[in-house]
Amino acid sequence: MNDLPPPRSDILNLKSYIAGAQINDTIRLNANEAPAAAGDTGLNRYPEVRPLALRNRLASLFDVPAENLLVTRGTSEAIDILMRTWCKAYRDTIVTTPPTFDMYRLYANIQGIDILEAPLLGDNFSFDVSAILSACGSGSKLVFLCSPNNPTGSQISQSDLAKIIEATKGRSIIVLDEAYIEFSERGSFAKLALQHNNLVVLRTLSKAHGLAGVRCGAAIASEAVINILSKVLPPYSFPTPAIQTVLDILSDKHLQESAAIVASVVSERARVSAHLEKLDCTTFCWPSEANFILVHFSNLKMILSHLAERKILIREFSDKPELKNCARITIGLKEQNDALINALEDFVERAK
Ligand SMILES: Cc1ncc(COP(=O)(O)O)c(C=O)c1O
Repeated sequence: MNDLPPPRSDILNLKSYIAGAQINDTIRLNANEAPAAAGDTGLNRYPEVRPLALRNRLASLFDVPAENLLVTRGTSEAIDILMRTWCKAYRDTIVTTPPTFDMYRLYANIQGIDILEAPLLGDNFSFDVSAILSACGSGSKLVFLCSPNNPTGSQISQSDLAKIIEATKGRSIIVLDEAYIEFSERGSFAKLALQHNNLVVLRTLSKAHGLAGVRCGAAIASEAVINILSKVLPPYSFPTPAIQTVLDILSDKHLQESAAIVASVVSERARVSAHLEKLDCTTFCWPSEANFILVHFSNLKMILSHLAERKILIREFSDKPELKNCARITIGLKEQNDALINALEDFVERAK
């Protein structure tokens, strides 16, 4: 256990909320619920304190034991509770690798946590292991590694990840955000989290599984880490209709259909990149292992207004100086991608 980075001591000593027992075939007068549901919705009862069937289903989907998985409302909630569990406000720090997913900054700012940055390196946005380790050296509690990274699409190598895990044992939790891993050729590193008390892997149903609307994600970690995070995750947080929806939807048929959509996104990603690279209005398309590509345009402002006229939205990052003139383009269906390519070709034609 001594490789477990210590969480906030007040969290370790936190007295858990004792929920009223939820036992079927009993007269339930212990939770101040309505005795019946008008309209027969069945929603007069609170959801389970922790959704056990859903946890088992996600554990089998992500191929890890159920004891090593905590169901959260999207990975966003996991990011938030990790920060609140390990970081004391106005004292502790986290490490991020910009440009990266902005929610790490958001939740850190909310919790009063300072952010140390170890920027991605060079033209290919690779992870700078020595910068990450020197930032950790000052006692950062959490290190957020997003792989494939949003918005660059770049990945961390297994050997770099192993170096970071080893060097930070007992001091920092490495949070490996694998929201886009299904779009990558490389498999998930979730199983590594079973061997290392300082690794938490985040997975989500929002991307490859096409269920962003249901807000379901998971933190995968050692049992010791899951038990600590469980103290901070509120009871009853996952709503009954969301539990039921996910359990109903995640059939073998659904998984096959999702896998086919992922395969088409991956092949469209190559086709769209190849097209965009040839256009006079683009300067560079970064290789990506996710469901988007990052593109540098010679005149992004004009491109954005041209695409807006065609009712096509892409994502720009005017708040991030390192991504000046860059846009992140999510890979859509073939006809949606064709509409984007046509609109950009028209833009080039008009500019001639
Ligand atoms: C890298 C990354 N992590 C996590 C999330 C949030 O995912 P969820 O919908 O599971 O909260 C996103 C959403 O865009 C993301 O890009």
